[in-house]
This record gives sequence, structure tokens and C-alpha cells, in this order.
Amino acid sequence: MIYVTGDTHGYYDETIYRLRDTKIGKGDTLIICGDFGFVWNDVSSRICLKHLQKEEFDIAFVDGNHEDFDELEQFPVIEWNGGKAHQVGTNIFHLMRGEIFNIEGKTFYAFGGAYSVDKGMRQPHISWWQQELPTNEDYNNGKKHLEAVNYKVDYVLSHTIPYSIICRLGKIPDAHDQELTGHFEWLKNNLEFKRWFAGHFHVDKDVDNVSVLFDRVLPIE
Ligand SMILES: [Fe+2]
Repeated sequence: MIYVTGDTHGYYDETIYRLRDTKIGKGDTLIICGDFGFVWNDVSSRICLKHLQKEEFDIAFVDGNHEDFDELEQFPVIEWNGGKAHQVGTNIFHLMRGEIFNIEGKTFYAFGGAYSVDKGMRQPHISWWQQELPTNEDYNNGKKHLEAVNYKVDYVLSHTIPYSIICRLGKIPDAHDQELTGHFEWLKNNLEFKRWFAGHFHVDKDVDNVSVLFDRVLPIE
């Protein structure tokens, strides 16, 4: 069984508590839609990451804007369920941008990243990383993989969401984010998919076939 949830921001107890009403266990996969936050250059994050490796299920996450990308990029790139991932623990995988994964017979297009609106309050390489926004290489990687499946997947996994969905959440899209949210808008209109899962906004709301997640945990049937 596959479960999907929103930002965890490195909070171990809260993450485990979220799973209290699920039957998640051996052989299952928990997907986190960015701002995983457990890969961070401090002792408590490393301890939490060790604890997560004791779980019997796999954890897969797309990156958000609050990740230590310098740390993340140190981990080996492996092939995981048909796509490229950083293996950050025995059972923990970072789904790289533009890759397609086949989990339990369902296909997932992963494309992380988002702009930090609080960038001005943060310090480069300590609490802010320029890799938070996708590069041309990321976009091209996505294009290559989507063309190979004729722009048809079962699910999309991202951190931020298409431009129009931000507006329909009652929020104002940030201009710095528009290359990505505009790209997602195009994707929403041109890709065939059943449901799009995202995080970032710290709300639990469904708009059209986009599920914006915070602390709810949805099973993917
Ligand atoms: Fe975020």
C-alpha cells in the first residue's frame, strides 16, 4: 500500500503520529511531498533519520524548498523503482526531479522544488539553498521522461502547485516562483494523470484533481 502526506520538516514525533490511523507496515511506501527536512546538517536530524530507518516501510520524498541540498547531494544516486533517487537511508529515498517511478504498478512523475518566500531571512548554505528551484537540466529531464510515456502517468508528486491552484487556494502566487508554477500549470493542462499530490502550503485541501497536503495521510488505492 502507498500512502502520501505533506511537509514533515524534520519533526520525527509528529511524522509518526500522523500515521496513527493507518495500517502502514512492511512492504508499504510513505511518500512525502517535499520539505522532508530530515536531511540536515545537525545532530538531532541525524538521530531522527536513524530512527526513521528502523521503520519497516519505505519512505520516498520529493524535495521542497526547505531541504539541505548540500547534504542531500552527498548521498549516492541509485535506480529506485525505475527512476533515479538519492538513497539517504536503507529505506529512505529522495525522488529526483523529472523522474518517473513505478511503485506497486502505479506510475509517479516526481518534480520537487519551490521558492522560499522567506529567503531574505535565511543564510545561503545554512538555511537556504539555490538548488530549491529547478534548473533547465531538471526541466529537460522531465520532458525526456514524459515524452517517453506520451505524457501519461497515474500520479504527480511535487512540492508547490500549478499557478491557478495557488490562486484558488486564495493565495497570491510569488513572482519568483512563476517559472515553476507556470510550468506546472502547463503540465496540469497537458498531462494525463489521475491525481496530483503536493505540499508546501501547509493546508489540507483538494482543488480539482490536485490534493494539497499538510498533515493528512492519504492512501493511494
Ligand atoms: Fe515548502
